[in-house]
Amino acid sequence: MRYLCSAQLEEDPELNAIVDLYRNRPEQLIAALLAVQKLYGYLPEAAMRSLAKELKVPFSKIYGAATFYSQFRLKPRGRHLASVCLGTACQVRGGERIYRRVKRELGVKLGETTPDGRFTLETVSCVGACGMAPVVIVDEHTHGRQTPEKAVKVINSYD
Ligand code: FES
Repeated sequence: MRYLCSAQLEEDPELNAIVDLYRNRPEQLIAALLAVQKLYGYLPEAAMRSLAKELKVPFSKIYGAATFYSQFRLKPRGRHLASVCLGTACQVRGGERIYRRVKRELGVKLGETTPDGRFTLETVSCVGACGMAPVVIVDEHTHGRQTPEKAVKVINSYD
């Protein structure tokens, strides 16, 4: 994941390679957005404006796609992604209490990133691990049979 200011973005050879690949191909808008998000971890506005110009797609259409599809992010993500499952099995076993406790520990709201850039907080609605509910997922690791206290320990084990 890379963080560049708007001026640096315009000069970024990797972004320019993506723009070159999709130039004048408006039907490839989603593929282009996915490529940009893979590069930066989110969709910087300057990058979306470059795509709008070079793909010949109105910026409003790009912004609309970026906000419609839940996999796109408009803000940088933290080094770690903490997801608390609020699917039925996890809810029944205390998922909501875990979510509130993790939220308080991190001091952020849903979808926000801690000021130090360590964590972004999200919720999910079932990751297929109902047998070990309630679960908290940090990056690609699923932590099962959580309590609010255990979840805080899990969170604090990541730097
Ligand atoms: S409901 Fe949480 S893993 Fe299925």
